[in-house]
Amino acid sequence: MLKIENLNKSFGDNHVLKDVNLDINKGEIVMITGESGVGKTTLIRCLCGLEEYDAGKVLFLEDGEESQNKSIGLVSQSFDLFPHFNVMKNITYALIKVKKYKKEDAVKKAKELVDLLGLSGLEDYYQYQLSGGQKQRVAIARALAMEPQYLCFDEPTSALDYKLRDSVGEIIKTVASRGTGVIVITHDREFARKYANRVYELGA
Ligand SMILES: Nc1ncnc2c1ncn2[C@@H]1O[C@H](COP(=O)(O)OP(=O)(O)OP(=O)(O)O)[C@@H](O)[C@H]1O
Ligand SMILES: [Mg+2]
Repeated sequence: MLKIENLNKSFGDNHVLKDVNLDINKGEIVMITGESGVGKTTLIRCLCGLEEYDAGKVLFLEDGEESQNKSIGLVSQSFDLFPHFNVMKNITYALIKVKKYKKEDAVKKAKELVDLLGLSGLEDYYQYQLSGGQKQRVAIARALAMEPQYLCFDEPTSALDYKLRDSVGEIIKTVASRGTGVIVITHDREFARKYANRVYELGA
C-alpha cells in the first residue's frame, strides 16, 4: 500500500497541500479530483519524488512494513516525451538504460504496448508528428513498459475523444487488475464514475 500521511507542501506563501491523508492499495484505482490549482499535480509529483514536501510522509508498505521497492511511474499532464527520440525509442529507452533489457527484448515489449494502445504504424514518428491523443498514448505506453508498483496519471484523457477515453479506461483497469495501484487525476466525472474504485476530492 502507498500511504500518504499528513502531507504538507508550500510554494513560498502559497500553502498548497494541507495535511493530505490518502491510502492507495495495490490493484486499486483511486481518482483525484478538485478545482484547478488546488494541488493535484503537486501531490502526485511529491509521490513520485519529483517535488520535495515540507512535512508528512509518503510510505511504501508491504504487509505493514516499509518496502524497499518504491517503484512508481508518472504519465504527466504535458506527456514529456523525449522530442529527439521516435515513438519506439521513447518506449524502450528506460527499459534498456535503467532496467538493462537487451535491445531486442525491449523492442518486443514496446511492440506489445504499441499494439495495446493503438499506435501501430507510428513507431518511427517523432513528437512533432503526433497528435495530442497519440502523444498521450505514447506516454502511457512508456510508463507501462516499466511495470511500476504504482502508477500515476495526470489527466490521462484530456486529449482524447470518447472512444479513446474508454480504451484508456480499460487499459487502466487491466493495469490495476494485474496488481498495480493506480492514481488518476481527472476532471471527468463520468470517467471517474465508470473506472474509479474510490474518488478523493482534494481541497474539499
Ligand atoms: N514550481 C512551482 N513554483 C511555484 N508555485 C507552484 C509550482 N508548482 C505549482 N505551483 C502552484 O501550486 C498550486 C497548485 O498547482 P498544481 O499544478 O498542483 O494544481 P492542479 O490542481 O494540478 O491544477 P490543474 O487542474 O490546473 O492542473 C498553484 O497555485 C500553482 O501556481
Ligand atoms: Mg494539474
